[in-house]
Amino acid sequence: MRKICIINQKGGVAKTTTAVNLAAGLSRQGKKVLLVDMDAQGGIRTSFNCDDQPDMHDILVGGVNVLEAIRPLGKNLDVITSKETLTRCELIITNEKDRESLLRRKFEQIKDYDYVILDCPPSLGILNQNAFLYADEALVPVSTDYLGIDGLNKIVKAIANVSTVFGHNIKITKIVPTLFDKRNKICRQSLDKIRSDYYEIVSEPIRVDTRVKEAPANGKSIFTYAKSSRAAQDYGKLVQSVINDEPQIEKLADAQDPLEVVQVIPAVAK
Ligand SMILES: Nc1ncnc2c1ncn2[C@@H]1O[C@H](COP(=O)(O)OP(=O)(O)OP(=O)(O)O)[C@@H](O)[C@H]1O
Ligand SMILES: [Mg+2]
Repeated sequence: MRKICIINQKGGVAKTTTAVNLAAGLSRQGKKVLLVDMDAQGGIRTSFNCDDQPDMHDILVGGVNVLEAIRPLGKNLDVITSKETLTRCELIITNEKDRESLLRRKFEQIKDYDYVILDCPPSLGILNQNAFLYADEALVPVSTDYLGIDGLNKIVKAIANVSTVFGHNIKITKIVPTLFDKRNKICRQSLDKIRSDYYEIVSEPIRVDTRVKEAPANGKSIFTYAKSSRAAQDYGKLVQSVINDEPQIEKLADAQDPLEVVQVIPAVAK
């Protein structure tokens, strides 16, 4: 089971959009996927018009069993939602012992999936520390502009720190350039810079496409809302490249030698 957090402390870089469409795309390829919203903004709940149901807050501090909070969204695709109450939860768990590993303990019963995809909030707060310690992999969406690159370097350092401080081996397995407009010089320069700094873990860019904004308003992923759109093509390629990594990731899980692990994240190792 691959546990991937979609993370960047910078806001508005397409984390939620990527989490939703990656999860939907993987499920359409026959993978069993659990999509988890770690953000009090509740973007996933809104994107799919989910009803009120036990959610992340109830799991973390309300004594609800994680299995009771899972809802089906479609074939091969389940969801755990969040809403604004998650902010309160953040305050409560801040005072708890072993607060960074709460999610890991609460999610112990989750085994029956090929992928768990976590949509993280734009911060480096306690909820994201929990996501870091639960996940084995980080997928980092980065907007193709100057501030995006600055944010990328910061999140790469933060992930390296978490690995050192908590002794948890989370790997950045994919950096996804987002909001790409090839007519824009800054976008092209940013993409070149991201590629030259991070090499093969950089995916093909996701192009700007207004259909992406329309899909959640219709309660759909880009694949069902506009299957021939630019964004559906780009997210389709991302899904395929995540699946293509599977053999390598399995090897890493078995790797005894940390150097083997380092090769997957060459830029972080530099
Ligand atoms: N490829 C795209 N083309 C056009 N608009 C996009 C694209 N990807 C994302 N957007 C839009 O950009 C905005 C931010 O996207 P999103 O909510 O996914 O970012 P986020 O990183 O999750 O934000 P936050 O940090 O607030 O959680 C949204 O309005 C979304 O519809
Ligand atoms: Mg978001």
